[in-house]
Amino acid sequence: MRARIIGTGSCLPATVVTNDDLSKIMDTSDEWISSRTGIKERHLVKEETTASMSAEAAKRAMDNAGVAAEEIDLIIVGTLSADYVTPSCACEVQAKIGAKNAVAFDINAACAGFMFALNIANVYLQMGTYKTALILGAETLSKIMDWNDRSTCVLFGDGAGAAVVRAEEGTAGLLAFDQGSDGVRGSVLACRGRSNNNPLVETSKDLTYVHMDGQEVYKFAVTAVPCSLQKTIQKAGLTVEEIDYFALHQANIRILQSVAKRLKTAEDKFPISLDHCGNISAASVPILLDEMNRKGMLLPRMKIALSGFGGGLTWASAVMEW
Ligand code: COA
Repeated sequence: MRARIIGTGSCLPATVVTNDDLSKIMDTSDEWISSRTGIKERHLVKEETTASMSAEAAKRAMDNAGVAAEEIDLIIVGTLSADYVTPSCACEVQAKIGAKNAVAFDINAACAGFMFALNIANVYLQMGTYKTALILGAETLSKIMDWNDRSTCVLFGDGAGAAVVRAEEGTAGLLAFDQGSDGVRGSVLACRGRSNNNPLVETSKDLTYVHMDGQEVYKFAVTAVPCSLQKTIQKAGLTVEEIDYFALHQANIRILQSVAKRLKTAEDKFPISLDHCGNISAASVPILLDEMNRKGMLLPRMKIALSGFGGGLTWASAVMEW
């Protein structure tokens, strides 16, 4: 029995903001952003919410899989920017799509959130607890950006991606997984939540935003990701050469190029969505996977390596046969 992705979907907000648009409201330029990151534009929410984009991505994934809402047993959303503290985004999605038989909850593993959710589903499916899961990565990062911090806010975007995962007999599906966390280095990419406001303390009205030490995060990514991918490929009984595509978290083109170099493999095996999406944290991997799926790039028996990495610090990789 294997956990197999049988459908994908995604949803981006309607509003596109180019690097040139940003240069009109802050001291930046298309040249600075695209040469350092590969990002050309991103989608930012106006009316959309984390849950509304999630529900749309979910419907598209269910459509693609040919699965009805009643068949979904489990919904997990990887997110750090849900609309509410409670109910969870997953419970909101359950209500919006009418998946009345599902168990629903969110997990926060930042940019590795979709991958962590995928492995949780994988374990449930392997155990036989559930048969059909809906796994999402969804973010409205624009609401937790400091729009006066040009070194961070230009990198991120909003959106949601989804995958329907089903326990099936056969060779296709998830072959191997690797996950890791390093809380000691957590402060290099952080966003503090609400501070204590009980009657015993003086309350602070400070709003807090994402803070990132870009160079430290870069160093983390280019060491942890190739190592995790290598471990996962080995666990799957494969070699780097046998992997058809590396669908990685879309943080920065230079990180992807460095991972390709360290794995001694071709850059054209690393599809890109960051040019038109920016970094959408947990949503990056499922949106990229959906774009690849809809372009017809994913063929039966292909071997695909996935990896998500970021805040926490957290990272997770998987190898699957499509
Ligand atoms: N536009 C123009 N100039 C900018 C700018 C912007 N948006 N942001 C920063 N700068 C300036 C800085 O002020 C600095 O100017 P100074 O030299 O006069 O002080 C200069 O550009 C260089 O800044 P620095 O932060 O050293 O740039 P960098 O080469 O390290 O690139 C990142 C910054 C963020 C692109 C790079 O560190 C990176 O990609 N890190 C990984 C981040 C990431 O992927 N995070 C998510 C992981 S999940």
